[in-house]
Amino acid sequence: MSSAPSTRAQARTPDFSAPEFRAALGMFATGVTIVTARTEAGELIGLTANSFNSVSLSPPLVLWSLARAAGSMVPLSNGRHYAINVLAADQQALAERFAARGTDRWAGVAFTDGVSGAPLLDGAVASFECFNRSQYVEGDHVIFVGEVERCSHRAQASPLLFHGGRFYAEHPL
Ligand SMILES: Cc1cc2nc3c(=O)[nH]c(=O)nc-3n(C[C@H](O)[C@H](O)[C@H](O)COP(=O)(O)O)c2cc1C
Repeated sequence: MSSAPSTRAQARTPDFSAPEFRAALGMFATGVTIVTARTEAGELIGLTANSFNSVSLSPPLVLWSLARAAGSMVPLSNGRHYAINVLAADQQALAERFAARGTDRWAGVAFTDGVSGAPLLDGAVASFECFNRSQYVEGDHVIFVGEVERCSHRAQASPLLFHGGRFYAEHPL
């Protein structure tokens, strides 16, 4: 039986719970990044994010999204630059630490300064140094679009993976 195309101008009310939505989203396997920045006062900012994705090759653009309630929202939305560090398979502990509250996330963490001062984590498989080009408020998150000024990667290095709320250190395929 065919049905007529909907002429609705608005989305239907969801028929699923928030946990069901989360679980469905979790089936999309991703890598894991730590987004880093340094404030004008010199304070180090960093948080774990897997919402990273590519946007454009020319100009080189990437995106990631940050919860509006995140503690690092103010420094990241006001700052001119940030870096996106793609984690290696052996960096799960860092991923957990930079998602936790009430700890000194930067204690003992080895990094170098990028061109704009954003920290580049030692051992990452790739890094993208971004100009904070634009931000779009959507729902309870803000989408950040970064214009990539520098990038580097370690060919052959194994990435940390995230799927179904769990970390994986080995390629399942
Ligand atoms: C694997 C993983 C991926 C995450 N991805 C994101 C993300 O893309 N955006 C986000 O806002 N929070 C994400 N989080 C949660 C943040 O890392 C966490 O809320 C952190 O405490 C935020 O730091 P802040 O409050 O200092 O900004 C993720 C957590 C984990 C473990």
